[in-house]
Amino acid sequence: MKKVLVFFIAALQFSLSAQQVQEITVTANMPVCDVQPTMWGVFFEDINFAADGGIYAELVKNRSFEFTLPLMGWEPVRQNGNGRILPTFYSPGKDANPHFITVVIDTENGTFGLSNEGFRGIGIKLGNLYNFSVNARISDSFNIKMKVELLDSTGAIIGATEPTQLTADWRKYEAYIQASSTEPRARLQLLFSGKGSVDIDMVSLFPADTWKGRKGGLRKDIVQMIADLKPGFVRFPGGCIVEGRNLTNRYQWETTVGPVEGRKLIINRWNMEMRNHQAPDYFQSFGMGFFEYFQLAEDIGAEPLPILNCGMSCQFNAGEVVPLSDLNPYIQDALDLIEFANGATTTTWGRLRASMGHPEPFNLKFLGVGNEQWEEQYIERYKEFEKVLHQQHPDIKIVSGAGPYQAGKYFDFAWSELRKLSPALIDEHYYMPPEWFMKNANRYDNYDRKGIKVFAGEYAAHSKEAEAPESRNTWLSALAEAAFMTGLERNADVVNMASYAPLLAHVDAWQWRPDLIWFDNLQVTGTPNYYVQKMFSTHKGTNVIPALSGGKPLIGADSLYASAVIDKSNAKVYIKLVNTSRSAKSVKINLEGVSFQKNGEIETLKSKGLYDYNSVSNPKLIYPLSNPVVISGKKLAVNLDAISVNVITLAYKK
Ligand code: AHR
Repeated sequence: MKKVLVFFIAALQFSLSAQQVQEITVTANMPVCDVQPTMWGVFFEDINFAADGGIYAELVKNRSFEFTLPLMGWEPVRQNGNGRILPTFYSPGKDANPHFITVVIDTENGTFGLSNEGFRGIGIKLGNLYNFSVNARISDSFNIKMKVELLDSTGAIIGATEPTQLTADWRKYEAYIQASSTEPRARLQLLFSGKGSVDIDMVSLFPADTWKGRKGGLRKDIVQMIADLKPGFVRFPGGCIVEGRNLTNRYQWETTVGPVEGRKLIINRWNMEMRNHQAPDYFQSFGMGFFEYFQLAEDIGAEPLPILNCGMSCQFNAGEVVPLSDLNPYIQDALDLIEFANGATTTTWGRLRASMGHPEPFNLKFLGVGNEQWEEQYIERYKEFEKVLHQQHPDIKIVSGAGPYQAGKYFDFAWSELRKLSPALIDEHYYMPPEWFMKNANRYDNYDRKGIKVFAGEYAAHSKEAEAPESRNTWLSALAEAAFMTGLERNADVVNMASYAPLLAHVDAWQWRPDLIWFDNLQVTGTPNYYVQKMFSTHKGTNVIPALSGGKPLIGADSLYASAVIDKSNAKVYIKLVNTSRSAKSVKINLEGVSFQKNGEIETLKSKGLYDYNSVSNPKLIYPLSNPVVISGKKLAVNLDAISVNVITLAYKK
């Protein structure tokens, strides 16, 4: 009898809670704090083939024969013709790009040459134009002809061109190739006929249709995905790539600017880092260098946020540290960078920027010192940077770091030491399970409102994974991040910047997952996490306003999370509501403070299964959809779907 009673009480409680209507009051005329224009940004790191093989649209891998194995990515091709590829030549005077190859040809009727495999193939689209170029010269030769072909995966020709007659002096030869079919894994083939030898270097193939049509530019579809986020900032170039596995392998921005053939290629630090995802062919050509990062940020209306090496290599790897007495060149790098970004065109670095096509300053306002460093060695070095930067560039906001973990002794030490100094922001990183994100939606509620601001610079919920590369970007992880992000938004007076990490991953060449955007050689896909970011960043608002339930913020009560902002520039209010429960929830919103237009909209992101994910082959399984909502009196009743993220947009009368 007792058991039955317990069952009935439980059933009654369940049905009550199923019917329970959560009441939230949003007061639009009571701004709590500003939302910084930089609030939601992106974190770009050349990991997962994000730059070479990704956003940088170059389709030829190892174009300059500078990889450790100079013919990696290349194969000889013999078509009834004799020939050989000579060991690479080395020009000691050309520090950045010393190698080229010589193709010796002895063909009466046939051809001999070489082909390039691209980055896990070359993505080619039917009807599109491709811009081929090569630096070449011939010697001891007569009648050498070159033809260039694109081949599909069966070896059929899907595009070809014959550049003009080669000469004895080094020259750049250029030609367009039009593709006769679509192919994700094409190859590029250079074939020679005649007798003699040809030296070649900088073999390149770019889609003509790049972002903003820039020659040798960026992959349009990937940039568009990033631009659609309307990010407030672009952090670059990482990540651990800033640090290098050792100091020789650190990111040195000066080597990434100027003409591309003069940018010294280095091994990518993610090349062999991950035991099960090694990529011996992962290098940094720096075709995507600091100029391109600044330009990207400018194109999409985001603040550039470069992060520089602070004299320490990755402490998870070699952990090399530059003695304090030798730190000056590293600090000088920072000063030079400010000159490159903001200096007059009469200065050394400003002149270089102008010569690259951008005489106007890039208006750099933020600069990060160190990525994910920890303990005294970091603080000692940070202090030296801060001293000089504050003295010479008091307007630059310095971003310091709290190390790799969300809490614990490194984190506490960094915060306690940095509080004695004056960085504008402290960069916090957390890669944690989804449950952590939901539980920590109140993380910033008790931070010092007047203290150093927070840059949540790298975060992602790491969920269960299956075989498909994109499978770790589960709906559960996105839902948990959304719940957490209501906490970031509520605390926008403390958290001034936030970015999911990492940003990009190639499905056939990744090292780290989850990632915000997945792509292959032809397509690009937003994860559910991407759509969550987009829902927040495109409804950023200008001020946080209260969204209270029973006088308190809604942080997980009845599995609901809420935050709200007003956008004074367009007279809108955006209310974010996250339902992490398996059942739908009825919510009644009392709308106070201003007079609203009757008709509004609710954008919803949802999925049936917590472990659902978007993939390149099924990119829109989880995708936001909009529906109208109607205000009645000063109240809005909405039904929130089970496990859903929602943004309500309401216009008010000014
Ligand atoms: O985002 C991937 C890596 O995670 C970053 O390079 C590093 O800063 C962090 O450990």
